Amino acid sequence: MSKAKDFITTQDFTKEELMEIINLSLALKKCIKAGYYPQLLKNKTLGMIFQQSSTRTRVSFETAMEQLGGHAQYLAPGQIQLGGHETIEDTSMVLSRLVDILMARVDRHKSVVDLANNASIPVINAMSDYNHPTQEMGDLCTMIEHLPEGKKLEDCKVVFVGDATQVCASLMMITTKMGMNFVHFGPKGYQLREEHIKIAEENCKVSGGSFLITDDEDVALKDADFVYTDVWYGLYDNELSEEERMAIFYPKYQVTQAMMDKAAPHAKFMHCLPASRGEEVVNEVIDSEYSIVFDEAENRLTSMRGLLVYFLTRAAKPESEEAKAESKAELEKLMSTLKY
Ligand code: CP
Repeated sequence: MSKAKDFITTQDFTKEELMEIINLSLALKKCIKAGYYPQLLKNKTLGMIFQQSSTRTRVSFETAMEQLGGHAQYLAPGQIQLGGHETIEDTSMVLSRLVDILMARVDRHKSVVDLANNASIPVINAMSDYNHPTQEMGDLCTMIEHLPEGKKLEDCKVVFVGDATQVCASLMMITTKMGMNFVHFGPKGYQLREEHIKIAEENCKVSGGSFLITDDEDVALKDADFVYTDVWYGLYDNELSEEERMAIFYPKYQVTQAMMDKAAPHAKFMHCLPASRGEEVVNEVIDSEYSIVFDEAENRLTSMRGLLVYFLTRAAKPESEEAKAESKAELEKLMSTLKY
């Protein structure tokens, strides 16, 4: 079993451990769909640190805590100290005393790593400039729910189209870890880099999966089971203007019906959202019957439930009935002196 206290990258976990979290996530989804809300997180508090805005990640974490009996605190962009007036180390140690688990969406990957290294409680990476591991977990749930008939995960080909965003890197990490066949179809200069290739190679060696980086559309799309894209904005410091991104990616890397026609006939379309409709994907595709983008958005919640239960259960300390009874008696005695 992984000793990792935190969920910073799926690379810290084996395929079997990730499947354990996925199976837990899918079981919890089934319970809640059936109307059974297991109160596994009763009395637990999640601190949610955001350096950027978010719809899916924020709402999923907060809803997951609420449904499972816990509570979440939203620490909005700019509203808490994180490496500004107060060091990340101090913030980590303070929050470790105030909440049970933390999630952080940060501008720089180093911030979430520093947070985790200095916190005594589990820390979940809710997206950095390097990766987006909770998105990966939800995406894997979605692919499992939409497996082509007669195929296992390991038989599937997943093609990411466009810019090598942190979502692209994360999709590579989870698919190659699972033994799937991953392709990044993107223009030179915007393809996955050497550091990613090393990870993909390591994963494929263990899992038997495959990966390919190409700018050849026919090779990329042939027999694809899942076609995935993300925005073309570039990352943070290197944000591209509309003019720049259209010049680099349009029209070759826009997901259109003509592109989808090159994939397997049963291929599904995926997008982490938010989408820039008319840029990386056209309405005809994102609104089609083979688009599973809203299942994907729903499965952000599915995976958050599993992750929260997994990490909080592992972090739980043994309780002593004797200590509970002793403190209760002491409190009751004190309270009795307050009456009248
Ligand atoms: N996909 C995703 O992370 O969405 P949000 O930015 O809305 O959280």
